Amino acid sequence: MRIFTGVKPSGHLQIGNYFGAIKPALDLQDQGEGIYFIADYHALTTVQNADEFRSYIEEVELGWLACGLDPKKSIFFRQSAIPEVNELAWLLSTLTPMGLLERCHAYKDAVSNGFAASHGLFAYPVLMAADILLYQADVVPVGKDQKQHVEVTRDLAMKFNEKFGTVFNLPEPRISEEVATIIGIDGRKMSKSYDNTLQMFGDEKLFQKRVMSIKTDSTPVEAPKPVEGSTLVELYKLVATPEELAEFKADMQRGGRGYGDYKKQLLEKLKTCFAPIRERYFDLKSRPDDVRDIMQDGTKRARSIAQKTLDAARHAVGLT
Ligand code: ADP
Ligand code: TRP
Repeated sequence: MRIFTGVKPSGHLQIGNYFGAIKPALDLQDQGEGIYFIADYHALTTVQNADEFRSYIEEVELGWLACGLDPKKSIFFRQSAIPEVNELAWLLSTLTPMGLLERCHAYKDAVSNGFAASHGLFAYPVLMAADILLYQADVVPVGKDQKQHVEVTRDLAMKFNEKFGTVFNLPEPRISEEVATIIGIDGRKMSKSYDNTLQMFGDEKLFQKRVMSIKTDSTPVEAPKPVEGSTLVELYKLVATPEELAEFKADMQRGGRGYGDYKKQLLEKLKTCFAPIRERYFDLKSRPDDVRDIMQDGTKRARSIAQKTLDAARHAVGLT
């Protein structure tokens, strides 16, 4: 089984990305052949500052390795290192009905959030289909918001296979329903668009400050604290054992301690969870040559798959 997913380097990594996307995707490494890539072409639809972009790409690259992507077992590469994807995207775009793209929620959402309605943003699902089909993926772990794009991919693959003979494998989206939405420090979904994130590799003091500023209600120190819908409890749940969580909640319900105490307790847990990941991150950052070797090896392995698929697709349409 080939497991395939991409991540957009469009901002700093936050703990919502870790629990919602990175960890579930990397947990699948043991269940098949993992292929992970940095969707830098896709990110260009929204990030248009070269220095910022370079730093996001580096952070995602080091971040995924630090979180446990095993480059010996899995393939890891940058999308833009393998130009074949552009040619496949073109072949697919000649089969893509405008109406299919017009129905895509992600495009409509991006435009309603103020992003320019560029051709790249509109054609985004076609490039995503090219990614998935080029590597003949079986399973594509994605968040709910990307499910429609995997369905577009299947449509295009079926259309191509019917017209020109079978070239592409039909991929299945894998949406892990049990991954809840991670809550940010203001109680809304943690997202860079809300500026409510806890960054994984940012400044430690700032991290502390943001944990201490998690929004709580105005229950007095001595009174029992509500645990239902509490952001502190939701975040604690991510980093504690069930017993520790039960104790944390019971303690809040007893009353007698202020929110500041619970925030400190949460902060310690978060630090313990992310300390080894941060350590690996900064170690990798200090060894750029080793990281380059890892990426070159991943690119070589990915490219040999990509070239085989593209050759078959070119041949099928009559380009020889
Ligand atoms: P952001 O909302 O900060 O812009 P992205 O859209 O770049 O995050 O998210 C990248 C991946 O991380 C997606 O697969 C998304 O599902 C996951 N993710 C991001 N934020 C959360 C969250 N708060 N809870 C769960 N998953 C999240
Ligand atoms: N569009 C995906 C996202 O926003 C990233 C992505 C690009 C992707 N190509 C992909 C994900 C192929 C899975 C497979 O998260």
